[in-house]
Amino acid sequence: MVAPIASGTVTNPSPLAPRSLKANDPCWCGSGKKFKRCHKVSSHNIAPGRQSPMRSVPPEIGRPPYAESGQPVRRPENPVQSDDVIKRMRVAGRAAAEVLAETGAAVAPGVTTDELDARCHEACIDRGGYPSPLNYSGFPKSLCTSVNEVICHGIPDDRALLDGDIVNLDVTIFLDGVHGDTNATFLVGEVDLPSRRLVEVTRECLDRAIAQVRPGRPFNVIGAAIQEHAEANGFGVVRSFVGHGIGEQFHTDLHVPHYYEPRLTRLIEEGMTFTIEPMITIGAWDHDLWDDGWTAVTVDRQRTAQFEHTLVVTADGCDVLTRI
Ligand code: MF3
Ligand code: CO
Ligand code: CO
Repeated sequence: MVAPIASGTVTNPSPLAPRSLKANDPCWCGSGKKFKRCHKVSSHNIAPGRQSPMRSVPPEIGRPPYAESGQPVRRPENPVQSDDVIKRMRVAGRAAAEVLAETGAAVAPGVTTDELDARCHEACIDRGGYPSPLNYSGFPKSLCTSVNEVICHGIPDDRALLDGDIVNLDVTIFLDGVHGDTNATFLVGEVDLPSRRLVEVTRECLDRAIAQVRPGRPFNVIGAAIQEHAEANGFGVVRSFVGHGIGEQFHTDLHVPHYYEPRLTRLIEEGMTFTIEPMITIGAWDHDLWDDGWTAVTVDRQRTAQFEHTLVVTADGCDVLTRI
């Protein structure tokens, strides 16, 4: 018998795993669990489903400029924000965190991603906010739901979550003229060990990156912390999607890569507001885009996880605005 592996080590596939092992057989690792509940890697690859009609937002709710046209018009926005913007972002950030928790509480096998979208939509409106994704560059829903191999920007549809899936919910709320942006990856029922480890390491990557933020340091310390921890655990870091400046606009032109970029020597300054949102992969980190123009999936269709916070840089570190 092989000793049960510590939850810090993922050896998959293992040379010790008999090829003939069936899903319900005891796992080769000696944990006493069924193979399918332990080291068997679930596939459950996903396909586009059917989308419900676009939801509406009551007229009394303040809307971002793109809400009607679907076209965000970018204007230069100083990454160092005024005290007034920061004050409003603290409120929006907290609201985003609450909406994420409320929506995430509904995650369960059998629940469709469209049902999660409805819940997020209502939770934003309940707080007097507009769900920022809705019609942002034409995005048709109020929430991004990214299941299994979907890296980001999955569109909610009629697919019911399956036991063993992982799903990222990316919530952004526009409240009192500013955005708060946060996401987390949730486990659906009983999830295999490699996926659980992926989710855990991704959360740690975000925590380690946040711990690096302080005025006077170059922006590249953020990606360095993430890449180092991901790769030490055998995982990959997505390059094509980055963190971003945020404030009165959803995305400003400040880019925050999640990999080490030595040329990124710009210094972090007090009062800057931006997101960090690492996307970490079990396998390849390159992506394919579905025909819907939004859904980004890993090229090898292996799983990926993400966590995101919006933060403001303080005199000696940063405040996470999207923590309850
Ligand atoms: N919330 C995502 C981010 O973290 C952006 C989603 S854009 C959308 O930057 F249009 F897909 F909503
Ligand atoms: Co973001
Ligand atoms: Co987001």
